[in-house]
Amino acid sequence: MGGFYVHIPFCAKKCSYCDFHFSTHFDSYREEMVAGIAKEIISRKGESSAPLLSIYFGGGTPSLLTIKELAFLLNTIKQNYSINSCVEITLEANPEDISFESLYQWQELGINRLSVGLQSFKPSDLDWMNRGHSAGQTIECLESASASGFKDISVDIMYGLPGLTIKDWGSHLERVVSSNITHVSAYCLTVEKGTKLEREVKKGRRVIPEDLVIEQQYKLLVSKLKSAGFEQYEVSNFARKNKYSKHNSAYWKGVGYIGVGPSAHSFSLGYRRWNVSNNKTYIKKIEEDIRFHEEEFLCDKDVWNELFLTGFRTRWGVSKKSIEALGGFSTNEKKLLNNYLSEGKIKKERGSLCLTGDGFLFADGIAQDFFRTS
Ligand SMILES: C[S@@+](CC[C@H](N)C(=O)[O-])C[C@H]1O[C@@H](n2cnc3c(N)ncnc32)[C@H](O)[C@@H]1O
Ligand code: SF4
Repeated sequence: MGGFYVHIPFCAKKCSYCDFHFSTHFDSYREEMVAGIAKEIISRKGESSAPLLSIYFGGGTPSLLTIKELAFLLNTIKQNYSINSCVEITLEANPEDISFESLYQWQELGINRLSVGLQSFKPSDLDWMNRGHSAGQTIECLESASASGFKDISVDIMYGLPGLTIKDWGSHLERVVSSNITHVSAYCLTVEKGTKLEREVKKGRRVIPEDLVIEQQYKLLVSKLKSAGFEQYEVSNFARKNKYSKHNSAYWKGVGYIGVGPSAHSFSLGYRRWNVSNNKTYIKKIEEDIRFHEEEFLCDKDVWNELFLTGFRTRWGVSKKSIEALGGFSTNEKKLLNNYLSEGKIKKERGSLCLTGDGFLFADGIAQDFFRTS
């Protein structure tokens, strides 16, 4: 196992587009939740023999944890698992939780990487999104994080937003590259089922930009970040040299990870499991030592499909070795590959098949063309 993921299922507010697992009413049971997650951390220590390369506190909003709670969870991991001396320890932090005090305390605990959810710099976007921070805080928090000594700072930003012009997007990217950050995750807004955004789109109150506009915004993202010295190592992820996220890279390279907390997923070759996505059920079952997860053993077809789905999204692509280990291409798959090679959407590089810059735009569709049904 290379990585360890801890899901903190609390948020102060509900963002209108988000369907991740979290609750905004958690005061009455936060202690039990933290104790439950610690119990799961201990109970799964037999699953990892290799030293952990990354520990990732994600959510939800992990920056809502008090220092005592965060220290307790981190110490529980350190006491029960072997840890690589160069371990990357990431905390997802929302701008409103970032202050000089919290920044210093997080560093003292050993957190060495921050992933800050900015989303947008436009006040009206932050408003309809129901974010808990102002546009001013988005810039201030990056300056404070860098001034406090954090060397690895990632930001999450979104494009494809209702009303986001190419000029707005260009200025958001300028602000990102002119700050002292080392990593960018830029996601295209998706309209998730059951969210307020979905209801608003259905009623015509918010309009999602057309595909052509989204394509222009994506191309601007890639060109601006590349010319500012960032390397694109996944469709949505960019990093300065040697600043790739160990957590993300391991995930895309198919390295195993343990995920704890409600809704967290875990993976090892040929196997995945996912915890129950309900906070109170999670606490009750873990307290009573009742199983709180479901699991699946992957057959060759699933491993093949996963290989293409994750591999084609990355700069490392899909290695010929792993294709051969699964029996190699069929005659029809070879024809499909040759078509993509001649169209210039796939290229052969260092013993792997990789998508070209433009191919990244269609990564999921191209991967699905290689999917097997049996
Ligand atoms: C689930 S959040 C957790 C981090 C933190 N709570 C925050 O709000 O930044 C992780 C990231 O997922 C992305 N995200 C969530 N919902 C999304 C959606 N519907 N479309 C695109 N990106 C989304 C956002 O960029 C967000 O920063
Ligand atoms: S985007 Fe982040 S803060 Fe907003 S609801 Fe989702 S997890 Fe919570």
